[in-house]
Amino acid sequence: MGELGTNHLLGIKNISKDDIQLIFETADHFKEVINRPIKKVPSLRDVTIANLFFENSTRTRLSFELAEKRLSADVVNFSAASSSVKKGETLIDTVNNILAMKVDMVVMRHPNPGAGVFLSKHVNASIVNAGDGAHEHPTQALLDAYSIREKLGDVKGKNIVIVGDILHSRVALSNIFCLQKLGAKVKVCGPNTLMPKHIRSLGVEVEFDLKKALEWCDVANMLRVQNERMSTRYFPSTREYVAQYGLDKEKLNQLSKEIVIMHPGPINRGVEISSDVADSNHSIILHQVENGVAIRMAVLYLLASKMKHYKN
Ligand code: CP
Repeated sequence: MGELGTNHLLGIKNISKDDIQLIFETADHFKEVINRPIKKVPSLRDVTIANLFFENSTRTRLSFELAEKRLSADVVNFSAASSSVKKGETLIDTVNNILAMKVDMVVMRHPNPGAGVFLSKHVNASIVNAGDGAHEHPTQALLDAYSIREKLGDVKGKNIVIVGDILHSRVALSNIFCLQKLGAKVKVCGPNTLMPKHIRSLGVEVEFDLKKALEWCDVANMLRVQNERMSTRYFPSTREYVAQYGLDKEKLNQLSKEIVIMHPGPINRGVEISSDVADSNHSIILHQVENGVAIRMAVLYLLASKMKHYKN
């Protein structure tokens, strides 16, 4: 098996296509493992991993913890809400105290963009970014692209539209980097107020008409409106957002072809996606969640192998 070109997974922007392919091939193996009656392998028996979550999470946190346990790593979990961060401790002090307990790898979600990069320069451990503010969410993009590869055979040459709140979305940015590296064509679709000003410089086209975007694409990745990152209103009302950018069965049935529907979760049912679409056989949402465990096992395994090689 090959080796990653990086000691950390901080984002998709700075990893190579070869690294992504290696992660996918490794995930293929782990996907087979997690579908066995005994879902555990001893690969990370001598590795201790800390999951540091300074922001809420359901899928990512559980998925990393399961991935770590399936690889037989020792796992410690940290939640900012119940920690000494509330007493004023800095990020570096928090992490160095955890590392003093002989932790090898840190999986971190943080509200500040660049928190993982900052940490990787100050602590002696392999860092995995589990989402840093509105910046990157690399394992989400990997599991999304892996799910497209699984469903359609390849990512190369496919038309993918990312719909919704692009401005506040780390999922959108990491997906754009990942899908483009793998040879897909990417469009974004949503209200102008939820488009970052620099978006076209990333090589994506902007489409404001959802029906046209859906007619063009093979895959539509529907994003949540991230109200928690908004200090002002970006569209007149939720009703108008739903009318223009919400995906329901009626809009899907008007298309001249079948498309694949994705969503990173958490879903706001009835806003960006209706229940009859989210739960339909067009949707691969729960496959994305399943693949998340295999992708995270692959990332942790490959980074730990690199770390062992580096330390020895
Ligand atoms: N997709 C995703 O990151 O979900 P969580 O916020 O629940 O981890």
